[in-house]
Amino acid sequence: MSDVDQICVIGSGTMGAQIGLVSALAGYRTHLIDLSQEQLDAAREMLTKRTNRDVEKGRRTQSEVDEAWSRLSFTADRDAALSEADFVIEAAVEDLGIKRELFADLDRLTPEHAILATNSSNIVSSRIADATSRPEKVCNMHFFNPALVMKCVEVVPHEATSKVTVDAAVTVAEAMGKSVVRLNREIPGFVANRLLNALRREALDLYDAGIASFEDIDTAAKTALGHPMGPFEIMDLVGIDVVHLIRLAEYEQTGAPEALPHPLIRELYEAGRFGRKSGRGWYDYGDEGAGVSPGAASSKG
Ligand SMILES: NC(=O)c1ccc[n+]([C@@H]2O[C@H](COP(=O)([O-])OP(=O)(O)OC[C@H]3O[C@@H](n4cnc5c(N)ncnc54)[C@H](O)[C@@H]3O)[C@@H](O)[C@H]2O)c1
Repeated sequence: MSDVDQICVIGSGTMGAQIGLVSALAGYRTHLIDLSQEQLDAAREMLTKRTNRDVEKGRRTQSEVDEAWSRLSFTADRDAALSEADFVIEAAVEDLGIKRELFADLDRLTPEHAILATNSSNIVSSRIADATSRPEKVCNMHFFNPALVMKCVEVVPHEATSKVTVDAAVTVAEAMGKSVVRLNREIPGFVANRLLNALRREALDLYDAGIASFEDIDTAAKTALGHPMGPFEIMDLVGIDVVHLIRLAEYEQTGAPEALPHPLIRELYEAGRFGRKSGRGWYDYGDEGAGVSPGAASSKG
């Protein structure tokens, strides 16, 4: 499989909508597929605002955007769209049962040559590939949020993924202007999130042991290591509930006790302090859920 012309993106939520536009901007005819027209309309509205702003700010030209829109369709008629797909990027809800069902459908509905990639952050593709009759054409292709902005895409084969599939996924990601991180074999969390988790774990342990305040640990990450945000700020941005869920998902896959959520994360989660989205996590964001006010939540947990 060398020539990819049509890409189908399954799921038009946070990730899928932006991946769809990235794909159309790269020149691929792209179908963005979701279960309901309402979800597709919301994705269209969000992307319209986004592209209008990009043109206003001079980040993209009007003709570049118009051409991308002409290549992008929003459809709930997935069977028709999938019948012409060369490459599928699945960005539906993070649920193993749903993904396995979806991949069995993709296997049935797409041409034989089509490659089936999942954008899952936590579910390695070996857990999905055997729901299809073409495991060698299944891999993880992991974008980062927001997909229109973040450059990294991790391409992760499972044991039976063919080299042709990996090469095709790398080619597509590079055509989308992404920097590819190729993993030689799958591991839960892949590379980037494992690095982030290692930093996060150490930051939580330092704070838990009373070595420094979480604000100062964030300051060290930013001003000594040059990170754009500190680990506690990132947890608040991602959502403490999401951080909690990701840890549980990794524990479910690995059974490793160290994968379980840190006790301090569990405390925040149980207190409903989910970060920016709830107005308070590590930091206090007031009513608007925006703007950091350091010190407002300086007691542990
Ligand atoms: N949110 C992130 O920061 C992030 C980052 C990288 C990867 N991911 C991965 O991307 C995937 C999607 O995450 P998200 O945050 O965009 O989720 P989301 O909940 O925002 O969107 C999921 C979309 O999939 C749709 N959907 C569900 N079942 C479907 C089906 N059977 N057919 C078609 N559409 C279906 C839903 O209607 C929804 O619009 C997950 O696997 C997640 O692990 C998420």
